[in-house]
Amino acid sequence: MTPNRPVVLIAEKLAPSVLDVFGSEVEIRHVDGTDRAALLAAVADADALLVRSATQVDAEVLKASDRLKVVARAGVGLDNVEVPAATERGVLVVNAPTSNIVSAAEHAVALLLAVARQIPDAHATLQDHEWKRSAFSGIELRGKTVGVVGLGKIGQLFAQRLAAFETTLIAYDPYASPARAAQLGTELVSLDELLTRADIISVHLPKTKETAGLINAEALAKTKKGVIIVNAARGGLIDEQALADAVRSGQVRGAGVDVFSKEPTTDNPLFGVPGVIVTPHLGASTAEAQDRAGTDVARSVLLALRGDFVPDA
Ligand code: MLT
Repeated sequence: MTPNRPVVLIAEKLAPSVLDVFGSEVEIRHVDGTDRAALLAAVADADALLVRSATQVDAEVLKASDRLKVVARAGVGLDNVEVPAATERGVLVVNAPTSNIVSAAEHAVALLLAVARQIPDAHATLQDHEWKRSAFSGIELRGKTVGVVGLGKIGQLFAQRLAAFETTLIAYDPYASPARAAQLGTELVSLDELLTRADIISVHLPKTKETAGLINAEALAKTKKGVIIVNAARGGLIDEQALADAVRSGQVRGAGVDVFSKEPTTDNPLFGVPGVIVTPHLGASTAEAQDRAGTDVARSVLLALRGDFVPDA
């Protein structure tokens, strides 16, 4: 039986406010987007599909439905959605490009501070009833040179926040406007110069053919000994084995990593390396960001289902 109301298939956990935006205008169905067979079956009847980053929306999923009009990514990155395949089938792809940028920048700062002061290890020892005060000597951020790789929206927010720690900011981004960089008090430099000058390096790039593996063993060998590296952007921008080796050798003092080349995962060369702090892709996992991401894309989905113009978010 063909349902009267358009069917919106939600394939991952989204903020409850998403349901308020849809109201009774659509029929909401849920599926676990990581269960491939279930997803392929459920999408057949769907007019809209809502995902976060765990559901792979590839050509096979898109072909499994003749009704699908819109795929919504409740977040920024579209790397789990095959956009050309969607476009070929006339399926609109929408995302929420600014919904979680503050949360992502704040998480990068949190990882940096956690590495600089070894907070997780210190916490763990005290939880084990051990008082090891002298084992945990950190470094201050003040006076350090911070290299921001990628001065897009999130990189800029990170730079603004790091300025408050009285750091010197340098950035590598071939597409950044020199005027905007200057406004942020950030000097634009080449990648090689950033690698050799920075005490702290944080990457804020999308993952593309050009950026995958950008920070590889060769790049890590150029860094200052004792550099701290943060990646809350995308897994695979930094060669994970090379980073693990560089931390073990002492070339890199420590690293804070939120994203991995394969996700979800419980196995990665960076796991268990002393000095490396990892979190399971939590950059956007705040109440505020999830609320914005969900409601922004829900509004776009409603417009698309009504056949109305969907403005860029
Ligand atoms: C994004 O691209 O929006 C982030 O990686 C966060 C997420 O996937 O939820």
